Amino acid sequence: MFLTGLLSCFAMHFMILRNYEQRAVNVNTTNAQRQLRTVGNHLIRYNYLQDPSSEVVSAELNMISSMNNGRVMIIDETLRIVRDTYGISEGKTIISEEVVRCLKEGTGGQVSAYDPENNYIELTMPIVETASSEEGDILHQSVASAPQEIVRGVILASVSTDTIRNTIDLLSRRAITIELIVILVILLLSLIVSGRLVRPFEKITEGINEIAAGFSDEPLSATQYTETKHIVEAFNQLQRRMHAVDESRDEFVSNVSHELKTPITSMKVLADSLIAQEDVPAEVYRDFMEDIASEVEREDKIINDLLALVKMDKRAARLIVSSVDINQMTENVLKRLRPIARKADVELTLESQRSIVAEIDEIKIYNVIMNLVENAIKYNREHGWVRVTLDADHQYFTVEIADSGVGIPEDALDHVYERFYRVDKSRPREVGGTGLGLSIARSAILMHRGTIQIDSVFGEGPTVTIKLPLTYVTQDNK
Ligand SMILES: Nc1ncnc2c1ncn2[C@@H]1O[C@H](COP(=O)(O)OP(=O)(O)OP(=O)(O)O)[C@@H](O)[C@H]1O
Ligand SMILES: [Mg+2]
Repeated sequence: MFLTGLLSCFAMHFMILRNYEQRAVNVNTTNAQRQLRTVGNHLIRYNYLQDPSSEVVSAELNMISSMNNGRVMIIDETLRIVRDTYGISEGKTIISEEVVRCLKEGTGGQVSAYDPENNYIELTMPIVETASSEEGDILHQSVASAPQEIVRGVILASVSTDTIRNTIDLLSRRAITIELIVILVILLLSLIVSGRLVRPFEKITEGINEIAAGFSDEPLSATQYTETKHIVEAFNQLQRRMHAVDESRDEFVSNVSHELKTPITSMKVLADSLIAQEDVPAEVYRDFMEDIASEVEREDKIINDLLALVKMDKRAARLIVSSVDINQMTENVLKRLRPIARKADVELTLESQRSIVAEIDEIKIYNVIMNLVENAIKYNREHGWVRVTLDADHQYFTVEIADSGVGIPEDALDHVYERFYRVDKSRPREVGGTGLGLSIARSAILMHRGTIQIDSVFGEGPTVTIKLPLTYVTQDNK
């Protein structure tokens, strides 16, 4: 801003003075030319070139020369200087290109040249005698031809431009004074304005630094500029997201600690009660030790689940993909779960529409199906059933797990994938799990670019459907 002001100021200064100088020189030249033309006529009338004794013309020449603060010389056809207002060159012969040309060409050869170094304008003006006017035959002249010009001599004059120079110097000094004032004003203004422009940004930086240093947790307040408003909004949004992440992490940690503490607490209770009693019969010991062992198992399962989750959370997690016979794999899952199903008095069936081979990470999907079927058995009723159906089209295969349990209430459907979420929290832990199974399952399915869907009307048996691509497309290829 300051630079723009400065440059335009100087450009204006220079241009205006240049303009003034040109105009002033033009005016002076025209004036001098008019005077010289008049005196030229007088020179002819008084026949001054032959007889320079006329007082009137001499006085006129002196006046012109003093008025213009310059010099006037009258030169005749033979290049002899008839009169010089300085009185030094009279009688001498002048050899000058301009004078010669002027004598030859008449009015067309008249020139004027400005010499800004030495502050004068040099003028040459022919002394022209118009033949017709001398003869007085006006009628004849106007009809026959243009008036005939006879060049009798040349006036060579110099006109001082000192006054122009002085005026320019004066104007220049004034302009510089004004410029200095303007520059000062611009400097002040640009300082104030730039300070104002930058202040909201500084405020934002301050606010962000404060938050970064941990002094403040308040969202930034929006300022009057649209730009800063956008920045502030974007930053606040980021901050809100960070808060949300913070909160969910805190919740996760507290859930983890709680879940890990529960088996330990019950182990401690079991052990304490054994220690407190004396002469405990061996069967009781055995009973208690069995309980403790199952608590250890539980703890182990939770830790493994957590590790699985953390592993899948990492972006670097890679799938170990291979071609897997899905029918065979599902059968294996059911074989492993059959004892539990028999214990819970739940009938387990597998229905397959066709043979399916897909590119998947076998361990991960095995665990997914295992988890889902386990849920179907766990949250079932007595004498219930679980039906697993396999199907495929040319792109995807689906595994459908339906059971005869009570299902999942609609408002809980949105939450079942959350870590540690359980619909019925009062359910004994041996029946209910930790609430990690579905969360792990969904992560694994998303890694395969598949989908999981639970259709459930509370009171009727739910159906869980997973849909996975038959061929695995790596993200890099996409
Ligand atoms: N087939 C189902 N029928 C009824 N409720 C279900 C069914 N599957 C899941 N749920 C409900 O969803 C909740 C979350 O299931 P999830 O598998 O994530 O955890 P979990 O089975 O409790 O524990 P985990 O699988 O980690 O041992 C369960 O607690 C249960 O209330
Ligand atoms: Mg489960």
